[in-house]
Amino acid sequence: MGSTVQFLLLLLTLGRLLTPLGGVPVPVLSIQSPDGDMIDCIKREEQVAFTHPLLKDHIIQERPTVIPSAGKKEEDALYGWQVWHQNGTKCPEGSIPVRRLISHENETVISSNAGDRVTGGHEYAIGRMYNREQKIYGTQATMNVWQPKVETYDEFSLGQLWLVSGTYEDSNINSIEAGWQVYPKIYYDYQPRFFIYWTSDAYNLTGCYNLRCGGFVQTSRAIVVEGAISPTSVVGGTQVELTVKIWKDQRLGSWWMGVGLGHVGVLEPVGYWPAFLFNLQTDYAARVEWGGEITNKHTYGRHTTTQMGSGYLPDSGFGKAAYICNIEVALSENDFQPLQNLTVGGSHPDYYGAKKSNNPELGTHFYYGGPEQLYPGHATAIHLTWDSSLLYLCFCLLLLV
Ligand SMILES: *[C@@H]1O[C@H](CO)[C@@H](O)[C@H](O)[C@H]1NC(C)=O
Ligand SMILES: *[C@@H]1O[C@H](CO)[C@@H](O)[C@H](O)[C@H]1NC(C)=O
Ligand SMILES: *[C@@H]1O[C@H](CO)[C@@H](O)[C@H](O)[C@H]1NC(C)=O
Ligand SMILES: *[C@@H]1O[C@H](CO)[C@@H](O)[C@H](O)[C@H]1NC(C)=O
Repeated sequence: MGSTVQFLLLLLTLGRLLTPLGGVPVPVLSIQSPDGDMIDCIKREEQVAFTHPLLKDHIIQERPTVIPSAGKKEEDALYGWQVWHQNGTKCPEGSIPVRRLISHENETVISSNAGDRVTGGHEYAIGRMYNREQKIYGTQATMNVWQPKVETYDEFSLGQLWLVSGTYEDSNINSIEAGWQVYPKIYYDYQPRFFIYWTSDAYNLTGCYNLRCGGFVQTSRAIVVEGAISPTSVVGGTQVELTVKIWKDQRLGSWWMGVGLGHVGVLEPVGYWPAFLFNLQTDYAARVEWGGEITNKHTYGRHTTTQMGSGYLPDSGFGKAAYICNIEVALSENDFQPLQNLTVGGSHPDYYGAKKSNNPELGTHFYYGGPEQLYPGHATAIHLTWDSSLLYLCFCLLLLV
């Protein structure tokens, strides 16, 4: 009798070892990236998005109804800017590439979604539309990518865009975000990575980086969300640019995101956020912003030395400072137009600035970044003026929450 039980237990144990725990999908192919990442090609219908309760019976949308103003697509143009592309192997049709969440520095499993989006210490230098509330159906922007120095492992530095509705007062900030980010605490290294984020309750209970919890549905087999970007921009040399576009698909209801290297041209639809993730079921966003953000943890009892953008101030201009250029906004469905009324500002102008510029080759654009200088003597900082004190007040409110 006892031995039968033992045998059954053994069978159970074996069964557990052989079947993937907790429904973790078995990759159809794994690709070794030169930076140590392992990229698993997962069957599209087995991606983590479908663990979201609202997505249980979701039928995947293969492609957006339209890709507004996308260039002609040659498949090879989609590859080449993410480090894992250097392997040369691609994920097969019907699968998506996913970064395996194991640190290549010390083999530990990366904790799922421990990013910090809400505690204090966030500092911004951004641009936004002058008009406070609008019906916004999408935005597109091109940003040059850098590898800013991040002082401590739990600080981050990023360049991104935001599409936002709702307010902090009502705890219903709905936000969709995408760009590049250095964040050792969650990625376990100091490389800039292509990232996305969403929340529907002001970063409280919902919110998710990349594919680390259910929500964003990926369709592309060419792009790894949270894949490292290389090369990056060189001071006085080549500027490596990423174009990110997010738009509301009026027919399918979803917010689609596409990305491409360089100025516009070829954009690969990476995937979408289904409309029902968001609790403000409007078919538009009310605000849009672009720019840089860092976290300042005051680790050594002083302001962090973490760089935003390239680490250079906006006055350094092209070839040195980080920029967001060719900014476009859709104020009606799929009607992307160069942004007319850009306004810029920062939460900590002693350290990080944003400044408009008018180089016609860059469309609507601004430079951003910092810090002004390292220690001591930020007293000599150039104070960037705000286009209006109202904006400053808004920032203070934002930072207080
Ligand atoms: C590409 O990935 C495969 C599978 O992990 C690996 O065997 C191969 O060595 C890699 N090739 C290169 C050039 O890194
Ligand atoms: C691996 O690295 C992480 C982040 O640096 C650290 O928190 C963790 O303790 C390390 N684990 C080991 C076994 O060294
Ligand atoms: C976050 O959600 C919890 C649970 O619903 C709620 O009690 C709390 O007030 C929320 N916090 C904020 C800042 O909205
Ligand atoms: C831009 O802003 C100005 C106020 O500075 C306003 O008068 C104008 O109507 C705005 N233009 C557009 C296209 O929103």
